[in-house]
Amino acid sequence: MADFKGKDILDGAQFTRNELDHVLDVADYMRKQVKERRALDLMDGYVLGTLFFEPSTRTRLSFETAMHRLGGSVVGFASAGTSSSAKGESLADTIRNVDQYVDVIAMRHPKIGSAREAAQAAEAPVINGGDGAGQHPTQALLDLFTIQSERGQVDGNTIVLCGDLKYGRTVHSGVEVYKHFACKLIFVAPEALTMPPEITARLKDQGVEIEETTDLEAAMAEADVLYMTRIQKERFEDPAEYERLKGSYILTRDMVERINPDLTIMHPLPRVDEITTDVDTLPGAAYFRQAQNGVYTRMALIALVTGEI
Ligand code: NCD
Repeated sequence: MADFKGKDILDGAQFTRNELDHVLDVADYMRKQVKERRALDLMDGYVLGTLFFEPSTRTRLSFETAMHRLGGSVVGFASAGTSSSAKGESLADTIRNVDQYVDVIAMRHPKIGSAREAAQAAEAPVINGGDGAGQHPTQALLDLFTIQSERGQVDGNTIVLCGDLKYGRTVHSGVEVYKHFACKLIFVAPEALTMPPEITARLKDQGVEIEETTDLEAAMAEADVLYMTRIQKERFEDPAEYERLKGSYILTRDMVERINPDLTIMHPLPRVDEITTDVDTLPGAAYFRQAQNGVYTRMALIALVTGEI
């Protein structure tokens, strides 16, 4: 049995297949509970701290919604500017302090490794909501849950990851969970934004079937799931390089209808121009359902790390 009590959720690579299956089961249970009765009283008296040093709409609000629907409450901040880090307080001190107030911490920070640093400073479990271009494990889990929900199962799917695979933390975490399933992965990116070669090489060593290409249409023809991502503007040192690469891949309704109408289309959001809005009404456009699944998955994680389920 998977035991998450007291554990930090820091990296997509930390999970075993058993643990992933367990998270999927608990997320499914949470979805049923919310559909039936909106909220539970499982986390009555518990407090979640949401410490977001970097912009977020979905991740922070879905953590907060998750905690409210579990019957707990939330404190936190939505930008570094409103916390004492603006006065020069170190991350470790901020965390050590918040740790005196709350039972679980969800955080996002622009620095790679910051969530691990926070986990060392805190007694309470820390859940990484994104550390720079590093990891975003809760997104990977909700993406997995979405694939299972949309396709019936995760095993057997060909998953195309397209866009900014260099800086995109959602795909860095995603591949670490997909590797436990019988999935073929196709990476589609401009030459300058390919998946970091050390990640690709390690996954291949672990026996994962991976193809790399710049040809989105060819990949789409083979795919069950297409996961589009935003070019991560805020991670570029040179704005001219961003200008050169933005708009590299744009998915249109015509492409889906012409190449593969059965495709499940995902995106962690926010979208800039990677998916035209006329795609949104296709039955396979799953990105808003994916955001909803984030609440169920985060409910599962909060309940698991506190040992309440
Ligand atoms: C992603 C992120 O913050 O990494 N958004 C999210 O959490 N849903 C993707 C992105 O910002 O492009």
